[in-house]
Amino acid sequence: MPRVLTARAVADLVAPALAAESSGPAYGRLTEALRHLIADGRLPEGSRLPSERDLPGPLGLSRTTVTRAYTELRAQGYLHTRRGSGSVVQVPDVPGGRIDHLLTPSALSDGAIDLTCTAAGAPGGTSEAYGQALEELGAYLPGTGYYPGGLPVLREVVAERFTARGLATTPDQVIVAPGALAGVAIAARALLAPRGRVLVETPTYPNAIATLEGAGARTVAHPIEHAHDDWDVAGLGRTLRQSGARVAYLIPDFHNPTGALMPAGQRAEIGRMLRAAGVVPIIDESIVDLPLDGQVVPEPLGRHVPDAITVGSVSKSLWGGLRVGWLRVPRGRAADMAASRLKLDLGVPVLEQLVAARMLQAAPEVLPQQQARLRAGRDVLLAGLREHLPDWRVRVPSGGMALWCALPRPGSTALATAARAYDVALAAGPNFAAGGGLDGWVRLPYVLGHDQLEQVAPRLAQAWADVLAGRVSAGRDDRRGLQPVEPRIIA
Ligand SMILES: Cc1ncc(COP(=O)(O)O)c(C=O)c1O
Repeated sequence: MPRVLTARAVADLVAPALAAESSGPAYGRLTEALRHLIADGRLPEGSRLPSERDLPGPLGLSRTTVTRAYTELRAQGYLHTRRGSGSVVQVPDVPGGRIDHLLTPSALSDGAIDLTCTAAGAPGGTSEAYGQALEELGAYLPGTGYYPGGLPVLREVVAERFTARGLATTPDQVIVAPGALAGVAIAARALLAPRGRVLVETPTYPNAIATLEGAGARTVAHPIEHAHDDWDVAGLGRTLRQSGARVAYLIPDFHNPTGALMPAGQRAEIGRMLRAAGVVPIIDESIVDLPLDGQVVPEPLGRHVPDAITVGSVSKSLWGGLRVGWLRVPRGRAADMAASRLKLDLGVPVLEQLVAARMLQAAPEVLPQQQARLRAGRDVLLAGLREHLPDWRVRVPSGGMALWCALPRPGSTALATAARAYDVALAAGPNFAAGGGLDGWVRLPYVLGHDQLEQVAPRLAQAWADVLAGRVSAGRDDRRGLQPVEPRIIA
């Protein structure tokens, strides 16, 4: 028997989501609000929605609006209606899978919980942004469609956003790239001599290590504090002086994987040090738009280092499927960066750039929805860990998409192996290590729906018990010799 949801209960759930969907016709806003509640697991799969006659009253909407929203949800695969059982919630399969096999090559069974990827589904309004962009596309069709620097309209929006955050930027300083990681690759190729040294935080985003090494660089690890928003400024100064690094790759805003946010004072100090050492930072701001506790993010680190290259994208805050990112480059380096960009590829599709421009313009309305979804996911996952794994030390990040958890003893790699038996895929701590170590840590994203997030801690508790009981071979606290069950290429 499907679980039956009363019209009042659904209306109470829908009201805040509906208020967050500020534009478009009422049926479209209701569709989006219901779709999000389903994707988040707050309207669980298999439950029965109130009838098209009962819901309009408590919602204060017309019956036609509710009927159109239900019809739309049926067409999108979120509802199915059988005679006698009403409209029942279902979660549609994503054609081609939620994540590409290159990101998670190991086969996962149906219903498995994939915690290897920190990326969420598209926010409400994405289809509408595509619709608007299609209307605008006509004007571009007579041209060649090649915009290796980026569409002027998008470069303008990105420049305005930097300026509004305190880093004055003009559109000619913006180069559009297919994602922030591509931005790192462009910058690394322009800045690094063969076998040149690049300072990276450890832990850090694994793909960036692979990209920097792929550009021929040797990485020098700078350990950052796991438990607080703290970059160990004195230690960084020493490493900069001693390592001979000419470039540094830093993630100051809701760092992946720790979630740490570099305090304003440290930004100024670190900026001074980088300038004094002549080290050019590649600053990755991919996650800057995801503060979860209503806090104001400090001004960009790039403000303190005129020579900095800052990369960003819409992948984490809006949608990874757009494949739109950018670099902000100092004027003196614009020619080098443009040349490096042309060696990699010739640009991002026009349609997606138009969509990204529209979505970035609408970001003040869209981001609060994304942040609210992530905040709720963070709280569900934290509550589960506190109940089922109380001896894991978990930092509560003030932003971003994942928890970075300290295990009571090293065993993250063994845990990732053990978790597979409980249908959970994990990225173990050593994946994030530059220079080895971190087997005592594990990253747990909170991007999935609540129904899945609620199952994470109970399943990991079983897997961890297997590790403690020696039923799974423990990983060593040293990346050489480990048999990682996941590749280092993860999102
Ligand atoms: C710090 C960081 N940079 C870059 C990326 C990749 O971004 P994009 O998809 O825009 O290339 C990620 C994705 O997880 C990330 O966490």
